[in-house]
Amino acid sequence: MYKLFFDLVFKRMDPEQAHHLAFRWIRLVARVPVLRTFVAAALAPRHKELRTEALGLRMHGPFGLAAGFDKNAVAIDGMAMLGFDHIEIGTVTGEPQPGNPKKRLFRLVSDRALINRMGFNNEGSAAVSERLAARTPVFRTVVGVNIGKTKVVPEEEAVGDYVKSTERLARHADYLVVNVSSPNTPGLRNLQATEALRPLLTAVREAADRSVTGRRVPLLVKIAPDLADEDVDAVADLAVELGLDGIIATNTTIAREGLGLTSDPSLVKETGGLSGAPLKARSLEVLRRLYARVGDRITLVGVGGVENAEDAWQRILAGATLVQGYSAFIYEGPFWGRAIHKGLAARLRTSPYATLADAVGADVRKPV
Ligand SMILES: Cc1cc2nc3c(=O)[nH]c(=O)nc-3n(C[C@H](O)[C@H](O)[C@H](O)COP(=O)(O)O)c2cc1C
Repeated sequence: MYKLFFDLVFKRMDPEQAHHLAFRWIRLVARVPVLRTFVAAALAPRHKELRTEALGLRMHGPFGLAAGFDKNAVAIDGMAMLGFDHIEIGTVTGEPQPGNPKKRLFRLVSDRALINRMGFNNEGSAAVSERLAARTPVFRTVVGVNIGKTKVVPEEEAVGDYVKSTERLARHADYLVVNVSSPNTPGLRNLQATEALRPLLTAVREAADRSVTGRRVPLLVKIAPDLADEDVDAVADLAVELGLDGIIATNTTIAREGLGLTSDPSLVKETGGLSGAPLKARSLEVLRRLYARVGDRITLVGVGGVENAEDAWQRILAGATLVQGYSAFIYEGPFWGRAIHKGLAARLRTSPYATLADAVGADVRKPV
């Protein structure tokens, strides 16, 4: 049904316009009390066995919405209504910015992939902070806040920009993510080098502690799949050293491997980050590597090419306590969350593991 609708309507529209249209519908439905309760009951059924505790937070399940879909925190309840167990808003930058010129989002339908060079279009930390402060939640959900660098801020002043966002946003965040892995802000990914990352994460941690009293906001870092294996290890070691709460693996890739021959070559050539199915193998590999290095000392979040319940299950077995997705939502539609939950619950039931937590990292821990 959705596939037909996608082919007839969304596929014929500019991808960014289609996103805005779908987003508007989701927000509209979430505003109508009876309707949203009905939709949530149908699309976000709860499975007791999937209840998850991560980052000191309780969630209905492990599957959440990756950053970039709700950049300005305008549709948290709408996305919770569709079954996402946590919603990561952002990336939010210190200052508002328009992002890159359009067109900046491309669909590679036959590869079930997207290429984007949005460039952190967002309303900025002050506006998003105000919106979160004014929010009256309808559905109980976990809200992560993902922060990044304002484009015009030079690399040497990046720490100050992240600290500004932290001071404004940490108090509204169930968890905070330092994004140093988007390919669409020049120089951003250089911040993944440990010499740059150590002072950045230390400053954000201190700013979060200064601005939030009564609780410690969990802090995570989101990394790129394009890091060399040694650099993945270096980030993992640094995260342990600094007492970070989690690592999100991974963001989009600048590589173009894994694409079939059917996507339009002119689209494949577009600059930006590739997401969706072609990212699956490398994201999983990075996750496994991280888990082998940090084990249960740090919470791992698996994202990149998760299309179905089997993919989500594989991420859990590879070490992810939480799993996120974005691109496949575009292709699978509103029943996607429901299908993932149902499939995960079924897999857990027939697995040797009593709880989801027991399954985390089981494939990596296995003696070979
Ligand atoms: C259009 C688009 C915009 C994105 N924007 C952000 C962003 O602002 N911040 C971020 O950390 N990740 C962003 N991402 C990356 C996703 O959060 C995710 O890490 C990546 O797409 C891999 O997951 P997927 O294959 O399920 O899409 C974006 C992805 C897409 C497709």
